[in-house]
Amino acid sequence: MSSIAPSILAADFANLQRDIEMINRSEADYIHVDIMDGMFVPNISFGIPVCEAAHKHAQKPLDVHLMIVEPDRYLEAFRKAGAHIITVHYEACTHLHRTVQHIKELGALPGVALNPHTPVELLTDILPDLSLVLIMSVNPGFGGQKFIENTYRKIAKLDQMRKEQGLDFMIEVDGGVSTQNAARLSQVGTDVLVAGSFVFNAEEPLATIAELKQATRVA
Ligand code: DX5
Ligand code: ZN
Repeated sequence: MSSIAPSILAADFANLQRDIEMINRSEADYIHVDIMDGMFVPNISFGIPVCEAAHKHAQKPLDVHLMIVEPDRYLEAFRKAGAHIITVHYEACTHLHRTVQHIKELGALPGVALNPHTPVELLTDILPDLSLVLIMSVNPGFGGQKFIENTYRKIAKLDQMRKEQGLDFMIEVDGGVSTQNAARLSQVGTDVLVAGSFVFNAEEPLATIAELKQATRVA
């Protein structure tokens, strides 16, 4: 069974409290918070005050995904805004080891995200320091995109590396997740499924979160 992290990127921002309370009542395990700066990705989402506002109502840990350049400048601010997990992009960090140590010093769990073109093998030497690896299954920047099929192979390989090195970091997948691919993602070793549009565009978001979780139960 995998954990579910609904992404509030697809929530109704004018009713954010209502949507977060829905997640609180649901079977979700985390609240995924997508931060986009218009530089690392071609889109701007929201920033620190919205993260803080979400945290005020959230009863589940905030899983903050920083799609920003120079994330080091904002780690402390996001930690203060309530981030439990802080994930930075491999492609945005020149001194990734230093960035990861900084996240730990702040008392958050460090995660590293990989774009679809970045091989999991590049993480070999940093894996022992990580609590989470986020595999992007779309190019970051927008919700509602099509799932990239090569993701299964990447996750299976990462799961194998995890076993070989005797590590216990979580594997998270992000982008185009639905009940169509949840079971197979879980089977290949995914611990956390992020889902934005599939949850929030559904007639019954609460039931949809339960369905996603159920799909991974049989896997
Ligand atoms: C994409 C974001 C995702 C996004 C997923 O850049 O990182 O977290 O919210 O949205 P869906 O589930 O609609 O693909
Ligand atoms: Zn994300």
